[in-house]
Amino acid sequence: GRRVTVRDLAAAKERGERWPMVTAYDAMTAHVFDSAGIPVLLVGDSAAMVVYGYDSTLPVSVDDLLPLTAAVVRGSSRALVVADLPFGSYQASPQQALESAARFMKEAGAHAVKLEGGHRVLPQVEALVSAGIPVMAHLGLTPQSVNVFGGYRVQGRGQSGDELMADAKALEHAGAFSVVLECVPAELAKRVTGSLSIPTIGIGAGPDCDAQVLVWQDLMGLTERPAKFVKKYFDLAGEMDRAVRAFADEVTTGAFPTAEHSYR
Ligand code: KIV
Ligand code: NA
Repeated sequence: GRRVTVRDLAAAKERGERWPMVTAYDAMTAHVFDSAGIPVLLVGDSAAMVVYGYDSTLPVSVDDLLPLTAAVVRGSSRALVVADLPFGSYQASPQQALESAARFMKEAGAHAVKLEGGHRVLPQVEALVSAGIPVMAHLGLTPQSVNVFGGYRVQGRGQSGDELMADAKALEHAGAFSVVLECVPAELAKRVTGSLSIPTIGIGAGPDCDAQVLVWQDLMGLTERPAKFVKKYFDLAGEMDRAVRAFADEVTTGAFPTAEHSYR
C-alpha cells in the first residue's frame, strides 16, 4: 500500500478521527511502529537526548539527524516520516530553512519537516510550503528555546495563551499542515484545536487535540525521569535489565550456549 499523506491527515480531522504519532530514530523500531499502523513517525531532534546522550536538543546538527531519518524511511513503508529541523538549521533565513529541509527530503527521503516557533518562523514556513515541502509547526514548550524559558515548564498560561492562539492561526495561514502543542494547558489546546482547520498534535496538551505524540523511549519505559505528561505503557528498562542479567549469568555459569545454539 501507499504511504500516509498530509491530505489523509486533513481528511482525518474533517471526520473527527484522532491519530497517534511516535518518534523513531532507527530502522527496526520504525518497522515495529509502522507495522502496528502508526500513521506518522517523527524523527525528533529529541534524538539529541535519547540517542546521542546530550542534556538538551540544542547540540544536534542536520548531519547528525540525516542518517537516523534515512534509517526510519528505510524501516517503514506506510507511515509519513517527518524530520525535525534542528536548532540553528532554519532560524537564520527562509533560504537556510529551505537548504536544510531539502537535505532531509533529498538525502534521507523525509516526507515533511517540523520546525519550532510562531510568528518568527512564518517566512520560513511560507518558503518551505512554496517549495513543496509540507511543514509541521511546533508551539508551546519548544525545547530549542529552553534557555529563554529558563527550564522545561508549562507554556501558554494566562495572556501568553492568546499569543499562542495567534501564532497557531498565523502558522495555519502560512500553510503549515499541522501543529504540535507541547506542554500547554488542556483548555488552551482545546480552544486552539477548535479554532484551526489543520490538526493539532498534543504532548502534555490534554485530551482534546486531534492527535497525540510521545517519544518512544518515554512510552516504553526506557526514560529515567519522564515528564508528568508521559504514560508508561511498558517497562522496557526493567525488561532489558532482567534479560541482560540473565544472559550475563548464563555466560558466567556456562549455561549458554548449549548444543542448541551451536554448530556441529
Ligand atoms: O523532538 C521530538 O521528539 C519532538 C516531539 C516530542 C514533538 O519534537
Ligand atoms: Na523536537
